Amino acid sequence: MPRLSIIGAGRLGRTLGRLAHGAGYRVIDVLCRDQAHAQQAVAFIGGGRAVTSVAQLIPAELYLLAVPDAAIADTAQSLADARVVPAGALVFHASGAGETSLLAPLVEKGVRIGSLHPAFSFAEPARAVSAFGGTLCALEGEEGVCAELERLAEALGGRPFRLAPDGKAAYHAALSMASNFLVTLNELALNVAAQAGIEPAVASQLIGGLMRQTLDNVLALGPAAALTGPIVRGDAGTVARHLAVIDDGLCAEAYRAMGKATLRLAGERLDEAVRQELARLLAPRVC
Ligand SMILES: NC(=O)c1ccc[n+]([C@@H]2O[C@H](COP(=O)([O-])OP(=O)(O)OC[C@H]3O[C@@H](n4cnc5c(N)ncnc54)[C@H](OP(=O)(O)O)[C@@H]3O)[C@@H](O)[C@H]2O)c1
Repeated sequence: MPRLSIIGAGRLGRTLGRLAHGAGYRVIDVLCRDQAHAQQAVAFIGGGRAVTSVAQLIPAELYLLAVPDAAIADTAQSLADARVVPAGALVFHASGAGETSLLAPLVEKGVRIGSLHPAFSFAEPARAVSAFGGTLCALEGEEGVCAELERLAEALGGRPFRLAPDGKAAYHAALSMASNFLVTLNELALNVAAQAGIEPAVASQLIGGLMRQTLDNVLALGPAAALTGPIVRGDAGTVARHLAVIDDGLCAEAYRAMGKATLRLAGERLDEAVRQELARLLAPRVC
């Protein structure tokens, strides 16, 4: 089995290290800046050697760079400067937002680079180890790199899939929109519900329940078939009344922007005259 070293053994590094060790990968070095952290990580993983500097690393085939995102580029540079990673080895990071190219300094040394992002929240390693099975893992890198990371992800119990070359930014934007904007939408809807005089506790159940039901519909039917409401019905009068009553400018702007995207989703279900009337109502306001 391949030899794996882990550089940055925090929540993700410890979890993946333990899973890899359990799957038969030979964990070689476990690097943290703090010796006690490295030793705790080795104890958790069940194998490896605790080290605190890149100069101490001995050769391996795979290197997981699991330092915080902001430290990935500098760590890759110090690995390249120290010439401790053998040519042909594979160094990969686990960031969802960072491109594989953060590891570029290593390419000049003949090292292959990639990334493996598990769509999972590693709050606490012991819990993460038991809950990791079935996690989708986004892979980025050239063909041979992806094939190797696929084998690793599957050995860890994950479900790997590949991103297009340089697809990381779009991948992370999609995740952020789905997760963060759902939260923002909930908050905006609660503010408008407050304008209707609805008690916060009732509003939370009303809006949350509808969001949950709608999410079930969209997951079962797909976005086009799950779409209901005044825009897809072509009810321009209701849309005009909504826009007239929303008293927060930012919220009205968000309504118009989401409304325009909804109009596109409604597509040919609207006749052209109604579509144009809705597009006029939903056009951004110039202040
Ligand atoms: N946590 C998650 O839910 C999650 C999910 C998906 C992806 N990821 C990705 O996984 C990576 C690691 O995240 P994490 O949450 O595991 O971080 P973390 O818990 O903060 O662990 C970071 C580890 O790196 C070490 N470290 C910090 N700065 C370093 C540096 N400059 N040089 C060397 N080692 C350093 C730390 O130990 P010392 O302080 O002792 O050095 C620690 O062991 C990130 O790329 C993150 O985006 C995380």
